[in-house]
Amino acid sequence: MYGAIIGGTGFDRQLGAELLQEVVETPYGAVPLYRGQGALEGLIFLPRHGPEHRIPPHRINYRANLKALAQLGVERVLATFAVGSLHRGIPPGALVTLDQFIDFTQGRVGTFFDGGASGLVHTEMTNPYCPALRAQLLSLASEYDVELAPVGTYVCTDGPRFETAAEVRMYAQLGGDVVGMTGAPEASLARELGLHYAAVALSINWGAGLEEKLRIVRGLEATERALLALFSAVLHQSPLPVKCNCEMSAHVIHPPAE
Ligand code: HPA
Repeated sequence: MYGAIIGGTGFDRQLGAELLQEVVETPYGAVPLYRGQGALEGLIFLPRHGPEHRIPPHRINYRANLKALAQLGVERVLATFAVGSLHRGIPPGALVTLDQFIDFTQGRVGTFFDGGASGLVHTEMTNPYCPALRAQLLSLASEYDVELAPVGTYVCTDGPRFETAAEVRMYAQLGGDVVGMTGAPEASLARELGLHYAAVALSINWGAGLEEKLRIVRGLEATERALLALFSAVLHQSPLPVKCNCEMSAHVIHPPAE
């Protein structure tokens, strides 16, 4: 098994005939996903919002999605999502290789370690995205004609509403580069399962207030296609010998009482 691609808005349009749908049962619920065929053999495609794009960001079953991938033997996950740009440095159409996130969501189930039999684990998240996968994306990007901003901080909101202009100003002041609704708790759940996980955000609009009216940019299909080709190339390559902490080694498990 090479790995999995989790996609969101726009990604679904790229899923063609080379895919076989199946449903994976997990302790957290059933997950419809696709197995790649032919040139895409060895890849799993998981549309985050469901096959019909009906599941809003706050209702996505993030735990079931990640657990399904782990059950299938996936070790490496590349995720993509549509975002809004929080400042002028990232115009709509730009792709950003995330290196940090700030999570403003509330009430999403964000852990597999929920006490009781599942225990207590404090997951190490200093660098939330796998450095090996990030390095691999950046080193292959130009070969696939993909322009990637090498770093970026993702702000995650609950949605499904867009931000107010004041919120966009605040998120930018806090160090955010892009804002979306689905990047958390996906990244930390992947880490809890010991999966190598990296994410590339595609900006589809200026954040609220940066233009007179919020406007979604259309016609980014070629960018999405190129990104998917890059993702599958990375997942077909052997992992780079870059050290990472994704496999639980640095987590604090059952810390003793002070
Ligand atoms: N805000 C939040 N999520 C988004 C946006 C945005 O402006 N654009 C795409 N997803």
